[in-house]
Amino acid sequence: MSKIEIRNHPKFPNVFISGPQDKLKLYTKNVVIGKRIYGERLINHRGIEYREWDPFRSKIAALILGNPMTNFLAENLKCLYLGASSGTSISHLSDIIQSGIIYGVEFAERSMRQLLQNTSDRTNIIPILGDARFPEEYSRNIFTEIDFIYQDVAQPNQAEIALSNCNYYLKDDGILIIAIKSQSIDSLQKSEHIYDQEKKILEKSGYSVIESVNIHKYAANHIILVVKKSI
Ligand SMILES: C[S@@+](CC[C@H](N)C(=O)[O-])C[C@H]1O[C@@H](n2cnc3c(N)ncnc32)[C@H](O)[C@@H]1O
Repeated sequence: MSKIEIRNHPKFPNVFISGPQDKLKLYTKNVVIGKRIYGERLINHRGIEYREWDPFRSKIAALILGNPMTNFLAENLKCLYLGASSGTSISHLSDIIQSGIIYGVEFAERSMRQLLQNTSDRTNIIPILGDARFPEEYSRNIFTEIDFIYQDVAQPNQAEIALSNCNYYLKDDGILIIAIKSQSIDSLQKSEHIYDQEKKILEKSGYSVIESVNIHKYAANHIILVVKKSI
């Protein structure tokens, strides 16, 4: 039995914390008892198994530690996750979104194989081998409206990829969260210039950037944008 005191996150449902504010650790309740996805620590606290959520491995964890104003998580979310990779972050979302569903799009076959191995026993993840640049190609796999799009594809045209998926799938009051990696867009330009450029592309297409959270502490040259459709 662990001596760590785990408590509810004050804002995000099904996210748990331990430690003082300046050294906060994040956890989710493991829905597949005993199984690790990326070597994360498992902790048994009062008969419940938690998985430590590493902000150096998961940008959503880094975002939560950045204390965003927007509460983008809910137990029943219908989520489209672009750039699912081998399942690190999507598995924590799967612990959180207990009565919702997550469609995880990934185009690299090797990552998809790992994703399938890592998450086959999680019934709320639907893995889709597809290319996020062509959202219409996976429309037959998506059979609900989407409340939340999370994108982490590290591609040169990140804003355009997000927009085409939002225009295709996102509900009018839905939320887009996009991890922008400046080095993937242009390694010669200053990061701040690239972040502004991506924000402008989103805003010109009828979206509002509600907040921008710098996660450089955990992921070099990254910010995260929280975006909504402008009404
Ligand atoms: C930085 S990793 C994502 C890490 C993941 N979000 C996590 O936290 O566990 C980026 C992933 O996006 C995938 N990717 C890049 N471009 C893509 C595209 N056009 N369509 C689908 N997946 C793409 C890559 O293969 C890679 O697995």
